[in-house]
Amino acid sequence: MKSPHAHSVRCPPRGRVSGSGRPGAADALLTVDALVKRFGAFHALDRLSFTLQPGEILGLVGPNGSGKTTCINVVSGLYAPDGGRVLLDGTPVAGLAPHRLAHLGINRTFQVPKPFRSLSVRDNVALAITYGRRDGRGADVDTLLESLDLAAVAQRPAIELNNAQQKMLDLARALATQPRVLLVDELAAGLNPGELERIGARLEAIARSGVGLVVVEHLMGFIDQITDRVIVMNAGRHIFEGTLAAAVHDPQVIEVYLGAGDVGTGDA
Ligand SMILES: Nc1ncnc2c1ncn2[C@@H]1O[C@H](COP(=O)(O)OP(=O)(O)OP(=O)(O)O)[C@@H](O)[C@H]1O
Ligand SMILES: [Mg+2]
Repeated sequence: MKSPHAHSVRCPPRGRVSGSGRPGAADALLTVDALVKRFGAFHALDRLSFTLQPGEILGLVGPNGSGKTTCINVVSGLYAPDGGRVLLDGTPVAGLAPHRLAHLGINRTFQVPKPFRSLSVRDNVALAITYGRRDGRGADVDTLLESLDLAAVAQRPAIELNNAQQKMLDLARALATQPRVLLVDELAAGLNPGELERIGARLEAIARSGVGLVVVEHLMGFIDQITDRVIVMNAGRHIFEGTLAAAVHDPQVIEVYLGAGDVGTGDA
């Protein structure tokens, strides 16, 4: 799936150091800076920081409960943060409601898709366009359904879709708002190899169009195919940043995964 050309398009500028001291931070599409989210006394996010460039696919990995979904929930506005910043093109957006963030260009998929079950696939996407864009002019529904292999089931109620189709519908609803930042939460889980290949190619095509993607995933083979850079999280913290190939040799990453599974196998 990974082409040599895709690498140069997606890869953030290496070694560029901004005022914050992090590579690429100055011209980042999305900046997550010392983000904190607490549930009672528990820190689900503990000063998490990373940047995302336009056209980049950034992998966000870590053991169960490490805070990946919470990160997506805070960046997409489902939860307000308890500290830190989220910047879109350098403008603070943390704490804005999800619909306002969707209007500004941040959208996400859900680990467990929750479509409007009795509405048709087509109407689910049409609804996302209507409410997800300030101007009501999102992507073309038919093109979107076609590109995600949903055209044949467009008139079926969402409840009748299988697992893979529900995930594609969730992605279609997010893409309907034409996001600039797309946060993807375990889209690949439960897909067969053919479906994985198609969705990987689709995510790469989305990135080539300039969208920045954060992809949360336990399937390391999938992450390896579509990303150039991963952030490894543990206990709400960023413990590693670099290629997946380097991550699997990092002592801290190995230690974290030894208690939670095997970083190299792919199924969590
Ligand atoms: N709404 C909530 N209320 C209380 N605790 C929460 C809430 N959401 C998440 N948590 C806790 O925060 C921690 C991080 O959860 P999160 O869902 O972000 O992990 P994750 O990395 O996505 O895990 P997984 O790989 O299993 O999906 C967990 O201990 C979880 O129980
Ligand atoms: Mg999760």
